[in-house]
Amino acid sequence: AAVEKGNYRHFMQKEIFEQPTVVAQTLRSYIRQVDNVVALPQIDFDLSQIRRVTIVACGTSYYAGMVAKYWFETFARVPVDIDFASEFRYREPVLEDGGLALFISQSGETADTLAALRYCKQAGQTIAVVVNVPTSSMAREADLLLPTHAGPEIGVASTKAFTCQLAVLAALAAHLAARKGRLDRAEEQDIVRHLLEAPAALNAALDHNDDIAAMAHLIAPARDVLYLGRGPDYPLALEGALKLKEISYIHAEGYASGEMKHGPIALIDEAVPVIVLAPSGPLFEKTVSNMQEVRARGGKIVLISDEEGLAEAGEGCLATIQMPKVHPLIAPLVYAVPVQLLAYHVAIAKGTDVDQPRNLAKSVTVE
Ligand code: G6P
Repeated sequence: AAVEKGNYRHFMQKEIFEQPTVVAQTLRSYIRQVDNVVALPQIDFDLSQIRRVTIVACGTSYYAGMVAKYWFETFARVPVDIDFASEFRYREPVLEDGGLALFISQSGETADTLAALRYCKQAGQTIAVVVNVPTSSMAREADLLLPTHAGPEIGVASTKAFTCQLAVLAALAAHLAARKGRLDRAEEQDIVRHLLEAPAALNAALDHNDDIAAMAHLIAPARDVLYLGRGPDYPLALEGALKLKEISYIHAEGYASGEMKHGPIALIDEAVPVIVLAPSGPLFEKTVSNMQEVRARGGKIVLISDEEGLAEAGEGCLATIQMPKVHPLIAPLVYAVPVQLLAYHVAIAKGTDVDQPRNLAKSVTVE
C-alpha cells in the first residue's frame, strides 16, 4: 500500500512526528523485556574478540556513525575508525584481522557505501549493517543484519531513520561493552533503562514544535548559519547544518564548539545566526565561554538547551529552544528533533519544496 501523508502537510513533517513511535519500535526489537539487557540477532562470530570497528556511511547516516564512535569508545573501549564511503573506498584503508566493519544506511543501496561493504568483505572483515530496508542489497550481504524499524521514509532529507539508527547503535555499543566485560549486568541494564526513556523525551521535544515554527522567521533571511555542538552533540551540529542546506538552501556549517575560534569566528557578525546545541552538564561552561566569544563580536545566538542550561545562559539570546533534561546518552536523539524542525519550518517560511529538494535524491545509486 502506498504510504500516505495523513493529516500532515509533508512527509518530512510526518516522519519527524513518528519518531517516538518508531524509536520505541526499534528499541523493542533489541531489548529483552524480561531482564532489560540488549539482545542481538544470532551471529556466527564472537563479538568479544573485536579489536577495532570501522564505520562507513554517507550523509545523515554518516553522522549517526560519528555519534556511535563516542559510544563504542566510551562504553566498549574499542577504537573506532570512521569515514565517508566515497573517501574510504579510494584511500587504501588498513584493515586488521578480526575487525568489524559497520555500514549504516537508510536505503541499503547507496552506491559508495555498498562498494565499501564489498571491499571490506573481500578484506575478510565481519560485516555488520544498520539498514532501514530489510530487502536491500546491504541487508543481503551482511553477516550481522541490524534493522531499524523506522518504516518507509519518503522525505528526501532523512529524519526518523537517523534517530532509529542511533537507537540501534547505542544498543550495539552497550552489547559490545557487555561482551567485552566492560559493563556488568547492572550497568548494561542502566544503559538500557536510559535508552527506554528516549521515546518520551522525543515526545517532550516535539511539544516545542510551535515555538520553533514561531522563531523560524529569524533564521529564514540568513545567508549563512553556524551550528555548534560538543562531544556526541557535535555530529548533531553537522546534521543541523546539513538539514538547513538540504531543504532550506541556507549555507550552514556545523563546527565543534571549541574549534570555532580556529576559523569560523572570523565570519561572525549580526547577520550570521549561531545555533548552539548544549545540554547542561560538565562541558556546558566551556560552551558558555564559546557563546561569549560569539556575543563579543556582535553575533546572535539561538541556544538549544534544557531548563538548567537556559536559566544559566539563555539571557541575551536571539531565541532559545527548550529541550527536556535527559541522560547524556540519549541527548543526540532528543536534540535531533529541534534540528529537524528548525530546518523544516525555515523551509516552510522560504516556500521551498520540503519533500523533494532541488538536486537531491533519496537514494544515491551513482558513485
Ligand atoms: C542521500 C539522502 C540523505 C541520506 C544519504 C545517505 O543523500 O538525501 O538523506 O542521508 O543519501 O543515504 P543512505 O540511504 O545510505 O542512508
